[in-house]
Amino acid sequence: MTHNDLLNIAGEYGSPVYVYDADKIISQYNRLTGAFSNVSNLRLNYAVKALSNISILKLLKTLGSCLDTVSIQEVKLGIIAGFEPHRIIYTPNGVSLEEIEEVAKLGVQINIDNLSILEQFGSKHPSIPVCIRINPHVMAGGNSNISVGHIDSKFGISIHQIPHLLRIVDNTKMRVNGIHMHTGSDILDIEVFLYAAEILFDTAKQFKDLEFVDFGSGFKVPYKPGDIETNIEELGEKLSARFNEFCTDYGKELTLAFEPGKFLVSEAGSFLAKVNVVKQTTSTVFAGIDSGFNHLIRPMFYNSYHQIENISNPEGRERFYSVVGYICETDTFGNNRRIAEINEGDILRFKNSGAYCFTMTSNYNSRYRPAEVLWYNGKAQLIRKRETFDDLLRNQVEADLEVFSEVAKTDKKKRNIEVATT
Ligand SMILES: Cc1ncc(COP(=O)(O)O)c(C=O)c1O
Repeated sequence: MTHNDLLNIAGEYGSPVYVYDADKIISQYNRLTGAFSNVSNLRLNYAVKALSNISILKLLKTLGSCLDTVSIQEVKLGIIAGFEPHRIIYTPNGVSLEEIEEVAKLGVQINIDNLSILEQFGSKHPSIPVCIRINPHVMAGGNSNISVGHIDSKFGISIHQIPHLLRIVDNTKMRVNGIHMHTGSDILDIEVFLYAAEILFDTAKQFKDLEFVDFGSGFKVPYKPGDIETNIEELGEKLSARFNEFCTDYGKELTLAFEPGKFLVSEAGSFLAKVNVVKQTTSTVFAGIDSGFNHLIRPMFYNSYHQIENISNPEGRERFYSVVGYICETDTFGNNRRIAEINEGDILRFKNSGAYCFTMTSNYNSRYRPAEVLWYNGKAQLIRKRETFDDLLRNQVEADLEVFSEVAKTDKKKRNIEVATT
């Protein structure tokens, strides 16, 4: 996609707008399957939470992807996008037994991450096979918010609780058909990944009815030129060999599963926003855009880095800017960034805006969520309309203030009488 393609999209659909390049999603999908081509049964469960637009799900379906979901709503989106329930895995954390049962009824693969629910689910539904999420107690991930496999993490069943887990499985006669881990996002060091995988293999040996081993995700993608990323090809070579060896020892050809989100969609996404104001202060030059953390919260939420380009003036002289939003709290997208000279009205592009960007948007400050556009086969297609004022009002129910004011009047009278008599 060229800068002109992006500018045309901002011109046609307005700003701010999210744009996704289908070719990048396709090439990342093929890169990952290619890296694991030595494994006979590979299953990629795309993590819906990263970007849940139905058209993106459908695109991934055409590539052969399955889905990883964390809520019954994500499951339903997947089904609407055409995924058969058995091609969806559901990995919730801290949800009710009722929701898990509802998802199981749909025929979706359940993944359980705590002993309490495991015992209740197994007692009630011993014939429904479940996958178990293990916490291998490995510190992996780009920062503490996205590291989920360590000792203090709320995710997964501790490897130290395996004896208890096995007792539950034995007592309830439930069938465990999968074993799973997900240790965090932005894992750079493949040795850490392989170390955690060994713990998973060790655990897996203790379950006799396995069909798959799911290694979660967490592959790091580059955020700026020269940035290091997870070496998928090396990981593929090493983990495939180790997985095949494990299957031989286990005596059965199992499926190797992953659930990538960021790896598949992060780099495919661009967020485009218009500069409303260039404001010179005593200490910096602010470029204030027509957006804020209501549309892209990752920089403020967990310090994530999004490269910012001025696509209206890409050849302009570079200057230093702080790019900020229009929200009534500090919402800095990038501090002291070297960007081609910015003029009011220019369109800025925030790269790596495919994963955890639109899905984290809100209506804060009563702003509309932006439109989403898919660039596919050299053409732009609108895949979500920008919200309108009706969307802000849709679920609001007006209170009957007549009743309130009557109550208020009576209260006041009562208080006055009380005040008068004391
Ligand atoms: C259980 C689980 N699987 C997969 C993912 C996707 O991770 P990533 O986007 O790093 O690929 C996440 C992300 O939070 C997750 O919690």
